[in-house]
Amino acid sequence: MRMTTTIPQIAAERISGRVASAVEEGLASQPKRLPPWLFYDAAGSELFEQITELPEYYLTRTERAILATHADRMIAQAADGRRLRIAELGAGSASKTRLLLAAAARRQGVVVYEPLDVSMSALEVARERIEREIPGVEVAPRLVDYAHELDLEPSDAGERRLVLYIGSSIGNFEPEAAAMLLRRIHASLQPGDGLLLGVDLVKEDSILRAAYDDAAGVTSAFNRNLLTRLNRELGAEFDAETFAHRAVWNAAESRMEMHLESRVAQSVRVAGLGLDVNFRAGERIHTENSYKYWPGQAEAMLGAAGFAPVESWMDAQGWFAVCLGRAE
Ligand code: AVI
Repeated sequence: MRMTTTIPQIAAERISGRVASAVEEGLASQPKRLPPWLFYDAAGSELFEQITELPEYYLTRTERAILATHADRMIAQAADGRRLRIAELGAGSASKTRLLLAAAARRQGVVVYEPLDVSMSALEVARERIEREIPGVEVAPRLVDYAHELDLEPSDAGERRLVLYIGSSIGNFEPEAAAMLLRRIHASLQPGDGLLLGVDLVKEDSILRAAYDDAAGVTSAFNRNLLTRLNRELGAEFDAETFAHRAVWNAAESRMEMHLESRVAQSVRVAGLGLDVNFRAGERIHTENSYKYWPGQAEAMLGAAGFAPVESWMDAQGWFAVCLGRAE
């Protein structure tokens, strides 16, 4: 049966309260910072979709190629001889998820797909697109901030659940938080269930920097859209033009960083929080870390969270890895 009810308003309101407290805390910090999940309002989700198609942003097409080559094997390994139900952290509006869902539908006829996301617009896009495009997939969307809460209803006896956490999204968490998230995923599963994790790997820094500072300026617009969101949702008065996009490779921490750098000394009113936020010329708001891993590191992270590594797949250049772990 297809789920057609709208996503409850109450969950949307709970998530808005979280915006206010995250911004209040982040802009009071030294250095100033804002959490990367704030990027994904409707405009930010659309800009991110555009990023995934940029020539410089190798991540999506590389992971897609890995999935295109190995989807049937991944699904067979995860199913382990049973029916599979597929949950995804982050709504898979993109073509990558489709490869896995189509492989599962080929294998078992009908497959239930549960996208979990903080963005209602992303969930709606995913549901509409996937139900239209892949026969045999039943979409059951859930508005959930999986970084803080994750409770999956137990899958039926005789079924296995496969959780997808692809797209290098784990890389946007600090190492401790990433480890905790993997443990939380593990706690929501039953022994034998699977986790498919996509991670971006360390590579030449010029390639990394270009991926986060593209020539067309889409990543810059994505970064600065965060300020537009604060203007709309918190009555802030940021002039996004007075902030420059900065993308920095931090080799010591093995991560790409994104910042918004104030071009001028200025004070910005955030009416909804009753705050005036002062910036020195050149002062930055740290908006994102995107960790890059060494080969074998993702398997070690899975192991530490209670998953037995089953199999891993990489592209020929060794730029990206997709790893399957089975809950023990
Ligand atoms: C969603 N996440 C994996 C992206 C990344 O590469 O860290 C977000 C992004 N930031 C800038 N470009 C894309």
